[in-house]
Amino acid sequence: MHTIVLATQKGGSGKSTLAIGLARAAIDAGHTVRLIETDQQGTLSSWRARRTLAEPRVDPVYAAGDIAERLDRLADEGVTLAIIDTAGGVGAASSAAIRHADLCLIPARPSVVDIEATAVTLAEVRRADRPFAFVLNQTPIRGQRLTGAAAALGEGALDIPDAVAQPFIVMRNDHQDALSAGLAVGEYAPSGKSADEIRGLWSWIETRLGIAAALAPENISELPIATMPAVQPSAEMFHFV
Ligand SMILES: Nc1ncnc2c1ncn2[C@@H]1O[C@H](COP(=O)(O)OP(=O)(O)O)[C@@H](O)[C@H]1O
Ligand SMILES: [Mg+2]
Repeated sequence: MHTIVLATQKGGSGKSTLAIGLARAAIDAGHTVRLIETDQQGTLSSWRARRTLAEPRVDPVYAAGDIAERLDRLADEGVTLAIIDTAGGVGAASSAAIRHADLCLIPARPSVVDIEATAVTLAEVRRADRPFAFVLNQTPIRGQRLTGAAAALGEGALDIPDAVAQPFIVMRNDHQDALSAGLAVGEYAPSGKSADEIRGLWSWIETRLGIAAALAPENISELPIATMPAVQPSAEMFHFV
């Protein structure tokens, strides 16, 4: 079983939205997925309550000490992917989740303030020595900003390709409308651009996790933690905004 953790101390970055979108994309790619909610705000549980489809299930696990045991149990039950949605701020449950991550995804809106706010989470991820990637979320729909972003990420201070997930997730109403309907964006508007981006993000994650090749056991490998990018978020990294 692989465990992905959505973490960043800043609320409103898209942790819950991406957790839900990615869960659906991973199910479509053949995974048995469980969402774990450590955020007592209960965004995922409330979404689940609005939902009539059976999958994915949401397990609320609010005590830090219960996370390891829950993950073990899910692996025993045959779950192949656990996606943990954490609370904003800094908390024991988020820290415990990060320690168990095969990949930490750190969503951030493309503004200097939001990028800088990821520093605390990134420090925690590095202390735990876990692989990570930033996910740029709620990016503008088009224009020079994104072109600038691609240039800045490709050639600028951030010359480590795997530190920023692709593609960026554009700000679109589909994400919000899907969640209020108890759906994932891939269910709400399957042929829309937002669903496409989330599927693309899932493929990127699969590749990064080394599970892209049809989940063949021989291809399931541990991430090369030794080659983890040594990147710190900085305003320069994202000087396109
Ligand atoms: N790409 C996006 N486009 C439009 N709205 C988004 C997008 N990502 C998140 N949102 C909205 O932003 C708000 C905050 O997102 P949420 O996932 O709850 O953040 P977090 O879990 O980090 O606090 C929600 O209303 C959500 O629907
Ligand atoms: Mg949330």
